[in-house]
Amino acid sequence: MAVHALLGATGNLGSAILRCLLSSHGQIPDLRINILVRSKSKLLQAFPQLESTSSATITIFEGSISDEDTLKACINGASTIYVCVATNYASRNVDIAVTTAARLVAALGQLRNDRESEYSTPVVLFNRSMALNSDVQLPVPGFIKRFTVFAIWHIYEDLLKAGAVYAGAEKDGLLTCITADGPGLMGPNRTEATGYKLMERGKASAALNYADFGIAMVELGHRREEFGGKVVGISATGALGEIHNHLLK
Ligand SMILES: NC(=O)c1ccc[n+]([C@@H]2O[C@H](COP(=O)([O-])OP(=O)(O)OC[C@H]3O[C@@H](n4cnc5c(N)ncnc54)[C@H](OP(=O)(O)O)[C@@H]3O)[C@@H](O)[C@H]2O)c1
Repeated sequence: MAVHALLGATGNLGSAILRCLLSSHGQIPDLRINILVRSKSKLLQAFPQLESTSSATITIFEGSISDEDTLKACINGASTIYVCVATNYASRNVDIAVTTAARLVAALGQLRNDRESEYSTPVVLFNRSMALNSDVQLPVPGFIKRFTVFAIWHIYEDLLKAGAVYAGAEKDGLLTCITADGPGLMGPNRTEATGYKLMERGKASAALNYADFGIAMVELGHRREEFGGKVVGISATGALGEIHNHLLK
């Protein structure tokens, strides 16, 4: 049995991952999905089919990332953890990524203590940003990239701090992290995928559909042996949906 824990399933990326896991794209035998959301009713509004899905395969945990016991219950025994608790708004004091990383690492530390030799290292899929990747280039002039990074530096700083927390936990053998770097994300309401490729270096597309990003995250989880510990860029190969970048608002 494979347990996948999805933190933040009501967001754009979280929804795309859940859609993938619920569809044939996921293709994971004996899959159990544990979902952490702040509002179960919001989740059920977006995914009414979850009302009738067997509770043996899907468990919904309602709580914030700071709710220790709920988080621990959600990730208990998970082989794959998708971290989609995030924000697109660059306020000065944004710390959601590093707070989530710290809470997740603390919860995994407790589970390792509880389970001792039965603890099995999960793979953590961390959604970062291609603007922070020097091996994969966005096809935009350097000064535009520098301006974007400057304009929403608080979000990037938060993501960098979160990355450092995951790297420390990986060194400690607590988890295996795969950092997924997307370009500008588009089409939050578009459910059909149009194509993507995984890349560790080279030139990427300027944008990507959330639907493709969701499928790519699930694929990365499947391919943990190959991508564990790595930073992977995800680039579009098909048509793009409507723009969804309110990072600069
Ligand atoms: N936009 C872009 O073009 C772009 C490009 C590259 C990378 N990124 C990165 O992608 C990330 C944004 O992803 P997204 O668009 O999927 O975000 P999103 O749609 O805003 O989703 C955020 C999710 O986090 C949940 N959440 C927030 N605070 C929480 C808390 N304290 N406890 C539990 N859950 C909480 C939200 O729950 P509620 O539904 O309850 O609010 C929601 O499910 C950012 O890190 C950004 O840097 C964005």
